[in-house]
Amino acid sequence: MPGSLLQHIANALVGISGLVYAYARYLAEKPPSEFGNPVHPWEESLRVAHLITAPVLVFAVGLIWNSHVMAQFHQSRAKRRRSGLAMMGNALPMVFSGYLIQTAVLENWRRAWIWIHLITAGLWIFAYLAHLRGPLKRRINRRLQARS
Ligand code: HEM
Ligand code: HEM
Repeated sequence: MPGSLLQHIANALVGISGLVYAYARYLAEKPPSEFGNPVHPWEESLRVAHLITAPVLVFAVGLIWNSHVMAQFHQSRAKRRRSGLAMMGNALPMVFSGYLIQTAVLENWRRAWIWIHLITAGLWIFAYLAHLRGPLKRRINRRLQARS
C-alpha cells in the first residue's frame, strides 16, 4: 500500500516521543526544584520532539484516508477490520485532545484533555501494532518478549 512507509515512520516518531515524554513527566525521578513543580531535564526536548513530529502523523493519515481507510471501510472483508476501525475512531479525539491540552485555560479541562489524549493515544498504538502485517508483527512481538 502506498504511504505505508510514511505511516510506519510517523507512528514510530510520534509514538516513541509520546511514550518517552509520558515516562519523563509521570514516572521518572525529577531533581528537586526551588521554583514550583520539579521538571525532568529531558521534558522540554521531548515536548518539542512530540510537537514537531505530530503533524507528520496527521499528514500521513490524511494521505491514505481515501485510498486506504475509506476504501477498506466500504469493503466487506473482515481482515484487519477491528484494528482499522479502532484507529479510525481514535484518530480525531487523539489529535484534537493533544491540541486542546495546549489551549485549555481551566486546569480541570486541561486535565480532562490529558486523560483523553493518553487513553486515545494508547489505544491508537495498540491498534496500530495489531494492524501490521504478520511477519512485521511477529518480529516486534519477539523483540518485546526478549526485552521482558
Ligand atoms: C501516538 C501516540 C501518542 C502518545 C503516546 C502521546 C503522548 C503524549 C503525552 C504523554 C503528552 C503530555 C501530556 C501532559 O501534558 O501531561 C502529550 C501531549 C501532547 N500531544 Fe501527544 N501523544 C501521542 C500522539 C499525538 C498526536 C497524534 C498528536 C497530534 C497530532 C499529539 C499532540 C500532542 C500535543 C499538541 C500535546 C501537548 C504538548 C504540551 O504542550 O505539553 N500527540 N502527548
Ligand atoms: C486510520 C486508519 C488506518 C490506518 C492508519 C491504516 C494503516 C495501514 C497500514 C500502514 C497498512 C500496511 C501494514 C503493513 O505494512 O503491514 C495497512 C494495511 C491494511 N489495512 Fe489498514 N489502516 C487503517 C484503517 C483500515 C480499515 C478501517 C481497514 C478495514 C476495514 C483496514 C484494512 C487493512 C488491510 C486489509 C490491510 C492489508 C492490505 C493492504 O495493505 O491494503 N485498514 N493499513
